[in-house]
Amino acid sequence: MKSTAPQTILQLQQMKNDGKKIACVTAYDASFAAQAVAAGMDCLLVGDSLGMVVQGQDSTLAVTLEEMVYHCRAVRRGAPQNFIIADMPFMSYATAEQAMANASALMQTGIHMVKLEGGAAWVLDSVTQLTQRGIPVCGHLGLTPQFVHQLGGYRQQGKTEQAANQLYAQATELVQAGIRLLVLECVPETVGKYIAQHLSVPVIGIGAGYACDGQVLVSYDMLGLTPGKIPAFAKNFMLGQACIADAFKAYVQAVKAQDFPVKNG
Ligand code: KIV
Repeated sequence: MKSTAPQTILQLQQMKNDGKKIACVTAYDASFAAQAVAAGMDCLLVGDSLGMVVQGQDSTLAVTLEEMVYHCRAVRRGAPQNFIIADMPFMSYATAEQAMANASALMQTGIHMVKLEGGAAWVLDSVTQLTQRGIPVCGHLGLTPQFVHQLGGYRQQGKTEQAANQLYAQATELVQAGIRLLVLECVPETVGKYIAQHLSVPVIGIGAGYACDGQVLVSYDMLGLTPGKIPAFAKNFMLGQACIADAFKAYVQAVKAQDFPVKNG
């Protein structure tokens, strides 16, 4: 059967414009990628979270460009008709020159968009340089795992009015620089709602509340594979399901029906 999943950033943008929720999950290999898209996932993220859930590291910092290239190739083989975003690893975009060389290597694996964390001036510069050269960019604000040591842990961001205003200001600057998608991680529901409502590009939340334009989860968290505790905002969709395919389907349905995440306010 021919896939009806979005294959371009324009189709993801149209989903936001039409008020249709975007379901996304991380994938690191061909088999999981194939299961996720067969379940109706709108896009896949080759996250550098693979450093933690696949490699067993305690942060994403050790993941290399070569490792990302390897996993991007595998995911692309498993989901050849689907829109794939890939994380640029820690320090691989510290300068615009590095960003261009390293993003090119990721794009040449067949993925469609690269993701950069943060909203400082040096990130804006890389976003501008990449988009001017035809590389679509996804921003990532809020809890940015590559900044874990500066943030003092994996903790909620944007909790004060000042911090929330700063996040919104960074989000608008990223859009002006050229991002076409924004991942917003671990911020209060009200902050997720405000940013999604006021930004022209789709905002994909992870622990950012029900009102975002879409949701992303780490696949190992939502399949109950991650050892130990999963983040409070994640949910184990494997519970009550017979197989991984059914768990992915339950997640897609919950995102589309706005049953996940549950509205707090
Ligand atoms: O690496 C990753 O999986 C991510 C998600 C947490 C959004 O960036």
